[in-house]
Amino acid sequence: MPDRFDLPAGFRWGVATAAYQIEGAVDEDGRGPSVWDTFVARPGAVRDGHTGAVACDHYHRYPEDIALMRGLDLDGYRFSMAWPRVLPAGAGAVNSAGLAFYDRLVDALLEAGITPLPTLFHWDLPQALEDSGGWLDRDTAYRFADYTTVVADRLGDRVPAWITLNEPFVHTVYGYAMGIHAPGRTLMFEALPAAHHQLLAHGLAASILHDRGLEVMLSNNLTPVEPASPSPADTAAAEAYDALHNRLFTDPVLLGRYPDLSALGVPDDIFGAVRPGDLDLIHAPGLDGLGVNYYNPTRIGAPTDPVLPFTLLDIPEAPAHTAFGWPVVPEALTHLLLHLRDVYGEALPPLTITENGCSVDASTTPDRPRIDYLAAHLDALAAAMAEGVDVRGYYTWSLLDNFEWAEGYHQRFGLVHVDFATQKRTPRASYAWYRDLIAAHRARLPM
Ligand code: FCB
Repeated sequence: MPDRFDLPAGFRWGVATAAYQIEGAVDEDGRGPSVWDTFVARPGAVRDGHTGAVACDHYHRYPEDIALMRGLDLDGYRFSMAWPRVLPAGAGAVNSAGLAFYDRLVDALLEAGITPLPTLFHWDLPQALEDSGGWLDRDTAYRFADYTTVVADRLGDRVPAWITLNEPFVHTVYGYAMGIHAPGRTLMFEALPAAHHQLLAHGLAASILHDRGLEVMLSNNLTPVEPASPSPADTAAAEAYDALHNRLFTDPVLLGRYPDLSALGVPDDIFGAVRPGDLDLIHAPGLDGLGVNYYNPTRIGAPTDPVLPFTLLDIPEAPAHTAFGWPVVPEALTHLLLHLRDVYGEALPPLTITENGCSVDASTTPDRPRIDYLAAHLDALAAAMAEGVDVRGYYTWSLLDNFEWAEGYHQRFGLVHVDFATQKRTPRASYAWYRDLIAAHRARLPM
């Protein structure tokens, strides 16, 4: 069996974070409010009322965090830019102090020999845009294009590759359909125009980045979907779920068409959101890479509820579950990557794992479950690559314990422990393990 030491030369090692989860400083230097600032203030929205107001205070402590990255000898750092820091009202006046922060961050990364890989949108929409409809409003896609122009003009001389969106599936379904993330809307399938407008935003931004000679990726949350049994009812439910979770966000970009969403009761034009020419705007710019965020597979059974055409089931026989309760099934990553290659063939660009990791109970020492999770998933990745899947890099989620959305500070995903009372960072055993893995991989490669 191929393993993680067989990964090819040039394979890029990184870590991933997101602005609202680590930056804090929500009122500083002219940053405007985002939907997450509003959502966390809603009673009961986030476990124990936690907020990202301070988070890891990365806005001030980024030099220390870059020193931690340098200690890992990383190739790349995936972070996100807060749109409301750059354009406090989402459109119009640019906040030069906000833009200057990303300028300093990029320069400090380059000085440390680490390639910056920014994500333009990781769920923190400016509240002013939410007030005019958020992603349900087509105009938000055009405001995203304007924001892309501002940051690409400022940083494009030093940042070669960009990720437009993070996980539009999770943002649409958790944020607009089920209301468990910001902006907290509960529209069920009528949320799907928000998906189309994010994909349109991606397409418009991709053209802007390509015009400047920059590379473009999209990071999707992808999950292999398995029916609970081979019965027709379970299989049909699994297909409906696969269309919603995976294909809705990947087919338009790679193939220029939407999957059949009729099992969800969603019309072809997604409730009138899709206009003539839109799929071309989404597809034509092409992708230089597809970002794969992988955590676990999904088991689906026939419907048990009048609204949903599927039932989400646990995988009780998985050898482990993370502190979040997610089943640990590393070989499902191999299956996912082979499946992508089989389904999309020539249309599939090179892949990068832009997130993978697990939360571990704070009381667990010495961090063994995280090391086991990462090692097994890297072996699963190497197995897919040995079968010919082109994967260019791996970004662990996450460098630091951080604000885990509706779970607040309860889920700890960091290679580095953060004491949120003192902001003290303490590298865990998994940090040393990842550092040693990267060094060992490099040592086995011809110079
Ligand atoms: C992903 C998100 C990321 C983080 C991890 C655990 O869905 O992109 O921000 O919350 O899950």
